[in-house]
Amino acid sequence: MATKPVFLIGFMGSGKTTWGKKLANALERPFVDLDAVLVQRVGMSIPEYFKAFGEEQFRILESEVLREQINQNTIVSTGGGTPCYFDNMDWILEHGISLYLDHSVKSLWNRLNASDVNKRPALKGFTGEQLHQFIDEKLTERLPYYQRAHITVDQVNTSIQELANIVR
Ligand code: S3P
Repeated sequence: MATKPVFLIGFMGSGKTTWGKKLANALERPFVDLDAVLVQRVGMSIPEYFKAFGEEQFRILESEVLREQINQNTIVSTGGGTPCYFDNMDWILEHGISLYLDHSVKSLWNRLNASDVNKRPALKGFTGEQLHQFIDEKLTERLPYYQRAHITVDQVNTSIQELANIVR
């Protein structure tokens, strides 16, 4: 059977990078963070890139970086928007195993409100009540993509080891 990458998908702040690293460790497979690859390639941070070239250009590049993972042995943490643009989710389903890190709006709000929102231009600098409303609307828009994932992960009740056994 051909090698298939594992894609972690989910909203900003859902823990894709942290869990991706842990899962890669448990499976002894290489870890790739799509945002980090992109940052390295363009030589600037994501907020800088959004400002200089706009979100549309970012989505094109993100989609290209995603497709480089074809036939790789990698555990890949995607960006929160990656599966929601072009036919990226179709591509993910066809070429990899996808894990959706599921969180409620409240849980995402708790996690994101405690973070530096300026590091994520897609959050548009919102905090507090405005951030809650933004997450609510954006998650509703993105759920139809996330919910197509092969496996939905409830992080509270799932251990890394269990997850490793599922995708192994
Ligand atoms: C984005 C999420 C970010 C990053 C970019 C856009 C989004 O990744 O790709 O800022 O639209 O949800 P994280 O989900 O790792 O924060």
